[in-house]
Amino acid sequence: MIYITRRETFNAAHRLFKQEWDDAKNLQVFGKCSNPNWHGHNYVLYVTLKGDVDPETGFLINLKDLSKIIKNRVIDKLDHKNMNLEVDFMKGIIPSTENVAIEIWKQLEGDVIAMGAQLHCVKVSETENNFAEYYG
Ligand code: NI
Repeated sequence: MIYITRRETFNAAHRLFKQEWDDAKNLQVFGKCSNPNWHGHNYVLYVTLKGDVDPETGFLINLKDLSKIIKNRVIDKLDHKNMNLEVDFMKGIIPSTENVAIEIWKQLEGDVIAMGAQLHCVKVSETENNFAEYYG
């Protein structure tokens, strides 16, 4: 079993809030990330696959193909977008780092299996100090 990781980046805006709470309660729970006028982060995404090395190529999968899938399914939808308003797979979901990782996993899983590999981990880093890892 071998693991291989592709790193991608995207910039996106969000606001962490619950509609049923007032601004004060949202600020108390979500802090600066609940700013009513949005704000952005420079996200870093790490997608790790696992499987066996193909003896013919020496690859688990071709990373170019993986990059294309991540771009089509995830980056093109998120980059320079507002996650609360514009991203189909984040509709109705609080765009926390944890939830972004889980939803990105759901976007990628089918295509990764079709490539003959398994998704092992989706890691989303929101700041240098904060990141979430999802293992399915
Ligand atoms: Ni934030």
